[in-house]
Amino acid sequence: MKKVISFILIVLLIVSVFSKVIKSDDVGKWATKGVGKDSFTFIIFGDSRPTSPSRPMPDDLLSRILQEISLIHPDFVIHTGDMIVGYTDTLDQAKEEFSSFLKLLYTYAPDVDFLFVPGNHELKPSEEIANLYRKLFGEKLYYDFEYGNSHFIMLNMNFPSSLLQKGQKYGFYNANDGLHTLGMVDWTKEVLKKPSTHKFVVGHVPAFSALTPDFAFKHTKSFDNKENRDTFVELLTSNDVDAYFAGHEHLTYVRKIGDTLFFTLGGGGAPIYTPVSGGYGVNAGGKPYDKVTFDPRFDHGGHAKGYHFDLHVPAGALGIFAYMIVTVNGDDVSYELVVPFSYSVKYVKGNDGVNDEAIAIVANRTAYPRTLRGLTFIMPYSENGYEVSATYVSWGRQVKPAKIQPKIVEVKKIDDYRAKVRVEVTVPAGDSLDVVLKAK
Ligand SMILES: [Fe+2]
Repeated sequence: MKKVISFILIVLLIVSVFSKVIKSDDVGKWATKGVGKDSFTFIIFGDSRPTSPSRPMPDDLLSRILQEISLIHPDFVIHTGDMIVGYTDTLDQAKEEFSSFLKLLYTYAPDVDFLFVPGNHELKPSEEIANLYRKLFGEKLYYDFEYGNSHFIMLNMNFPSSLLQKGQKYGFYNANDGLHTLGMVDWTKEVLKKPSTHKFVVGHVPAFSALTPDFAFKHTKSFDNKENRDTFVELLTSNDVDAYFAGHEHLTYVRKIGDTLFFTLGGGGAPIYTPVSGGYGVNAGGKPYDKVTFDPRFDHGGHAKGYHFDLHVPAGALGIFAYMIVTVNGDDVSYELVVPFSYSVKYVKGNDGVNDEAIAIVANRTAYPRTLRGLTFIMPYSENGYEVSATYVSWGRQVKPAKIQPKIVEVKKIDDYRAKVRVEVTVPAGDSLDVVLKAK
């Protein structure tokens, strides 16, 4: 047992040294990277826990999402919580789960920065697991940072029970993590006053539950009560918040109140709660929406089993694994929902640190063009640098130069013989490019 514990501690030490987890306490220093930027990209998703206690991480799915994140190479990633099971875990079991999760980040997206808000699975099971979370991801349980032209407010919708009052479980409460002058509600009111081109708020629990929207069900998946939720929504909509991002419900859903979007992005690998097709049911003819039937033969009739037997999942609540790419471009913000396997890379030559020429086929299976900033090649180290170009194959089977040519964005020397070269490439929608990198 002692051996297992020391192994886990070593692994935790290694990931804490090399991983790109940005602790809540260090966020101000880190965010200086964004100074002066009025355009940048971040990815957000959550809920990546195993199916049930003692089961492994969803490695296959999560590693895929992380590989695509690495390829997209956003400015940073936000995870909205629930990365471990936690409940019924001993402290050692929780350590092992955190360790498995962090190893996946480090292995598949080593060059990307990750920020977190905690989920109930990290803070609710026990004080000692909550304390372990704080040690690994930062002591502050609510925090904010300015990145470029945007202000991010990271909230805690599931404080440890010791910080809440009787009857409080999930919601917007004035609890204090011991590291702020103000409780979270008063603090949020203050920080929301800061002027910013964009404001994004992140928390684990959704403001608008797709599963229990009326608060009547005993196992509510939203806030404890409607009054608390409405207070929160009013605060955000009246302070020009662009979007509130949450997870907790393992589905993808969005509501718009005023100009504020309220997202649930819980498709990060944990078991899905709803029918894949959400509440769309079967189109029985006629105009969209006016003749939809919930056919029991199709996707279980559009019910979310186990959470609210009498409720059809609302239209748009999709039971899919997904992550969201958010692009800030000056005054504009765009939100693109992506399912895993949308982007892929296949190396067909080189990428071994030996061959002077490497070729990668990069596919974009989405309906939109995408600039991927994290296409990497292991090349022989070259004093004279490298050159990169790209071609595509037309439907007439002719090889033609890509309309937007790739460029080299970073060369990292590995040792005297090898270098890791990072390339930025824009891949048109539904197409593939051959990217050729040569050492000069
Ligand atoms: Fe949760």
